Amino acid sequence: MSSKYIEIMEEIKLQLENGSLIAGSKLPSIRQLSEHFSCSKNTVIKAYVELEKEHLIYSVPKSGYFVVNEYQIEAKENEVIDFLSAGPDKHVMPYLDFQHCMNQAIEQYKEELFTYSDQQGSFTLRVQLVKYLQNLQVFTKPERLVVVSGSQQALNLLVAMPFPNGKNNILIEQPSYFGIIESINLHQATAFGIELSMDGIDLDHLEYIFRNNDIKFFYIIPRFHNPLGHSYTNREKQKIVELAEKYDVYIVEDDFLGDLDPDAKSDPLFAFEPSGRVIYIKSFSKIFLPGLRIATVILPTLMMNNFLRYKFSSDFNSSALSQGALEIYLKSGMFNSHLKKIKEIYYTKMNHLQDACEELLPANTHYSKPSSGFYLSISLPENVTAKQVVHMLHEENIYVDDASRMFLPEYKKDNLIRLSISQVEMRKIKTGVERLAYSISLIDSRKNQKPSNLFLF
Ligand SMILES: Cc1ncc(COP(=O)(O)O)c(C=O)c1O
Repeated sequence: MSSKYIEIMEEIKLQLENGSLIAGSKLPSIRQLSEHFSCSKNTVIKAYVELEKEHLIYSVPKSGYFVVNEYQIEAKENEVIDFLSAGPDKHVMPYLDFQHCMNQAIEQYKEELFTYSDQQGSFTLRVQLVKYLQNLQVFTKPERLVVVSGSQQALNLLVAMPFPNGKNNILIEQPSYFGIIESINLHQATAFGIELSMDGIDLDHLEYIFRNNDIKFFYIIPRFHNPLGHSYTNREKQKIVELAEKYDVYIVEDDFLGDLDPDAKSDPLFAFEPSGRVIYIKSFSKIFLPGLRIATVILPTLMMNNFLRYKFSSDFNSSALSQGALEIYLKSGMFNSHLKKIKEIYYTKMNHLQDACEELLPANTHYSKPSSGFYLSISLPENVTAKQVVHMLHEENIYVDDASRMFLPEYKKDNLIRLSISQVEMRKIKTGVERLAYSISLIDSRKNQKPSNLFLF
């Protein structure tokens, strides 16, 4: 049956999108389509069954297949404007293609995928990953890669394990990804913060911290930062690596969205010190399928054995089934075409969100201006807390995130909200920002109201 059924599905989806097929219309008969696509009737039936599972079409016994009423779906979707969810856009998750790769992987590797496997990750996948990473200006070899169960696992293990510099403390940008803060808390590690704004970090202050605070590693999200959306320039990245080298600090570089960078000249920190100072982590969760729980980490040779001991005691090995299928997805070129598609989608959504912020947000709010990625953050006026805004919008089924959990206690800010563009539909962005702007102004004006004389006593 191969991938012909996917071709049929894609063709029908295209016609639904461009309006050639409208709600209620009857689809061609199974015989017509099998002739048109020169394939078996079973292949057409498979395509129709899959489209039915996606609730795009329905069947009427003895009559055929029909397009579902899009208004029913829209009415349901219209209820929610989701700037909160941070998984990839569910409309572009390539799970049908991936299903195909899973089947192929099982055919190719058979029982190997269902027993214990290499702790470091399958070698053939690591070879594919090395090739893929070259697109991100990351040049390394399979021996230095470990396949991990999500980048969160790599972070958690790095927080827990000793480093060759024998130092104890961790430095993180403020704010930062909540998952690293949780790992630090649970391991009772000591963390220092360095303030990050859309203008970057103070490099003199960074040097001061490196020199004086026994820093084991500096955890950094160099592109499309979570939650700010900030990206460093190449010059800044180079300088940070130089300082790390000078003061014997390791860098843990979390390049979770690097693949979306529209600037082909932007380098990761890894490119400035490929031989071990920078530990590079690449997640596939945002650009691909988070449920696979697959990411990779590049380690200095010096740390490999110890990292593998920690990894082994955590989960033996990462899912061999996910690894086998990802290998085939990468090798077939499907990954690169998927990436091309989503790069465009997220770039467009992010621009649209910024246009809406520019047009609608009150003048006393400040928002970041990332060139792509998932996140844009908004600093609220002094009188307005993120908690109030989240609560007020929640009542209207508009979801945004309060970023206060993304700070260490001494850096805590309660007036930052994070918007994610990954799951929100393009056509809802402007309405969402309109409602957000209204809520901010309303809360702000209430706070600014002078109490009546009655309460002055
Ligand atoms: C910056 C950052 N790093 C890592 C992760 C964890 O990703 P994974 O699914 O690869 O564990 C996330 C998830 O949201 C994230 O935002």
